Order: sequence, then structure tokens, then C-alpha cells
Amino acid sequence: MSLLASYTVIGGKASEDLAKKIAKKLKAKYLKSELRIFPDGESKITISGKPNGKIVIVQSTYPPVDSNLIQALSLVSKAKKYSSQVVAVIPYLGYARQDKEFLPGELVTMSIIANIFKTAGATKVIVVDIHSKMALNHFKITARNVSAIPELVKYFKKLNLKDPLVVSPDCGGITRARDFANQFGVKFIALDKHRDKKNGMVQIRSKNQKQVKGRDLILVDDMISTGGSIVKAAEFLKKQKCRNIYAACTHALLIGDAEKRIRKAGVSKIISTNTIPGKTGLVDVSPIIAKAIV
Ligand code: R5P
Repeated sequence: MSLLASYTVIGGKASEDLAKKIAKKLKAKYLKSELRIFPDGESKITISGKPNGKIVIVQSTYPPVDSNLIQALSLVSKAKKYSSQVVAVIPYLGYARQDKEFLPGELVTMSIIANIFKTAGATKVIVVDIHSKMALNHFKITARNVSAIPELVKYFKKLNLKDPLVVSPDCGGITRARDFANQFGVKFIALDKHRDKKNGMVQIRSKNQKQVKGRDLILVDDMISTGGSIVKAAEFLKKQKCRNIYAACTHALLIGDAEKRIRKAGVSKIISTNTIPGKTGLVDVSPIIAKAIV
């Protein structure tokens, strides 16, 4: 890794641990940010010390999405006062699913957010496994997506799985599942999922999948939010008499009782990355982010 440039990494409150790990990999100065939330919900941020060199802001925008987003933008704007080069690392980028007008009248909020990052002063944006590449196209600055699949695959290779098969819960995830399966050295299938665009309800429309019988399955997705997609897929696969089901995702939002419902549906283990802190975040993405920065 070339270390010709000097870096300062500033960790937003949503991504402190990951930011420290990235700073270590870059042999960079690390600056902490202090956060106070005012009674009305406003974020008040203070950074300790002066950044120098290229500045890297690290802040995922998981819930509370808008607060974490405004904190990321404020940090970028502050960094711009010290450096002409500000890299915004947003490992989990909220709003990436709102990348086009699905139903008439819907706003494409991803596009607004992409513009604000540029206006705030970011010269480059780095995200991990963005929901769709289309979301990246809204950025008018360099925007790079890094894939956590190789890191997730490394983790799964250490597990002693029986005749593993990779499963995508929907056809939209075929490329992801294919990449995972190819790197793992196994086959993959995709289920036919339908989500009602008005109420968000999920349905699996696949017919019998005899090839899953007696096998360990890895359900691969970019993110688990409410768990609806994984729950429906797991319930379907259990009926097909598979052996164990593992859920692998980059971003585990696990809203509400998602984890409990996923386990109840028959998933033995959820493995995610540390783009979102939590107990399922066993796979560290700091090495791939550090590589994308330099
Ligand atoms: C959908 O296309 C995504 O890849 C995920 O499957 C989805 O966003 C997960 O959301 P939930 O956990 O609420 O079903």
C-alpha cells in the first residue's frame, strides 16, 4: 500500500471503531468527534485537534439515518476548511434504495444526497456494497463502491459446511450471489421474490427447489433491514428440507425484532460486516476500505 500522502481520519460517532481500524491501516492520525444531541434532536459535533493532509471522514448512515447523515455532512464540511482533499467514507449509505422513481411522483432522494456531499466539500466518496450501482451514478464526484464479498467468503470458508449452496433471496441479487458462489467455489440459485411497492410486503413465488434438500445454504444479500426478505426465503427453504441456513449480508440493520424473527424462521446464524456495528458484524471491512482510499 502506497503511503506517500499523509492522512487524518476523523471518525463520526456512528462508525468510531471502524474509523480507528481504517486509521491504523493507513498509519494515519486519528481524530475523535464528540457528539451531543440537543433535546430537540439537533446534532452538535466537536472534533478534538487539527486535521492535516488528506482528510478521511468515516460515518455510516444507518438509523437514525437523517441524524447520522447530517453528522457526516457536517464533518465533511468542517474537513474542507483544512484540506482540499476530503474523502467521505460512508460504509453503509442510507437512501441508496431510493435511486429512481419506482412509482409516479416518488422523489429520488439519493440524487439530492449525492449533490449535498459534493456541496459540503467531499472530493471522493467511498461506499461498501451499495444497494445498486445506479445510486452511485447520482454522484458528480468520484464515487467508488468496494465489495465486501471476498471478506465474507473468507469467513464462510472457515465454517465446516455440508455441501454448501449459495441462495439469493431475489433475482435482483443474482450478480452478488454469483460472485459469492464463484469465490467460494460452489453453485448458486436465486429465488423469485416479489415485494409490493406500496406496502413493502414480501412474497416468495418460487416453485419447488429440490436441489436444496439436505444441504447447508448461505442466503446472501446486500442488507437485512426488517428481515422480511430473509424470513420469507428461510421459511420457503426450510419447507424444501434444506439442512442449516446461514444469512450473509454486508449491512445488518436488523430493525426492531428482525433478528428474532430470522432465527424463528430457521436461520442458524447471521453474519454481517462491521459497516454497521453490532454483534453480527464479524467481518472487518477496514482493509478493503483502506485500500480504496490510497
Ligand atoms: C432488496 O432488494 C435488498 O437487496 C434487500 O433484500 C432488502 O432491502 C432487505 O430488506 P428487508 O430485510 O426489509 O426485507
